[in-house]
Amino acid sequence: SICYLNGRFLPVGEASVSPMDRGFLFGDGAYEVIPVYSRRPFRLDEHVARLANTLAAIRLPDPHSAEQWQAIIRGVIERNEWEDQSVYLQVSRGADDKRNHAFPKVMRPTVFLMSEPLVTPPEAQRQAGVAAVSAADFRWLRCDLKTVALLANCLLRQHAVDQGCMETILFRDGFLTEGAASNIFVVRDGVILTPPKSHLMLPGITYDVVLELAARHGLAHEVREILEDEVRHADELWMTSSTKEVLPITTLDGRPVGDGKPGPVGQQMHAFYQDFKNTVM
Ligand code: PDD
Repeated sequence: SICYLNGRFLPVGEASVSPMDRGFLFGDGAYEVIPVYSRRPFRLDEHVARLANTLAAIRLPDPHSAEQWQAIIRGVIERNEWEDQSVYLQVSRGADDKRNHAFPKVMRPTVFLMSEPLVTPPEAQRQAGVAAVSAADFRWLRCDLKTVALLANCLLRQHAVDQGCMETILFRDGFLTEGAASNIFVVRDGVILTPPKSHLMLPGITYDVVLELAARHGLAHEVREILEDEVRHADELWMTSSTKEVLPITTLDGRPVGDGKPGPVGQQMHAFYQDFKNTVM
């Protein structure tokens, strides 16, 4: 596949970055994952805006304007063959001549984008729902930033995989935060619940779409803090992300969620989401 590295498009096998890159040495960088349907990037403005927000928060001078980012992303999409793609974008604080925690005097960010075929959950998985486990959220207090320092998320996702599960649902101080690589929605008594955006979770683009669709279609929904106990006694649980879309979770820590089958509200939301992604961009 064709990637983009610091101003050039080239086969990913020919791309290389210095081992002195701070992305490699410190996990010092920002990233985005942008879904592409029928060669059209979904919610591109929102992804580019979130990237700018992360870069500003980590004091990494943004090397490109929003328009330039859009052009680079479209450049990667058009050079790859797949109709549906998952575009990965990363900006690191670049290389220095020595290892030093403090920023280099002159920052030359490393910009890397690649594309993979977008594989959304297969129908069988959607019909059955997926299994999740829970864990204490031991990440830092800036989970609102999409940084490449994902060791905690990797450990937490592997914790699920080790138990044959898809996702780990995270609780901090007795409250739901999100998944290891997804946002979490809860349905109780027909009402869609999800935690408010804060420094404790990533402001998901899919999360925003789901809340917009709930409002547009008049589905009861509430954004508020959610107790662990409410999650454990939910009628429905969903995980949402750019690659998983809206995916029902039907077991948590080995116990069924609701009746153990994907629920009606989630099925409705999935249908709205499919409709939306295929029309509005
Ligand atoms: N992950 N929370 C976390 C911790 C995430 O890593 C992600 C996405 C989300 C959902 O965000 P969005 O709806 O904008 O994709 C929530 C991406 C897909 C990844 O790291 O691969």
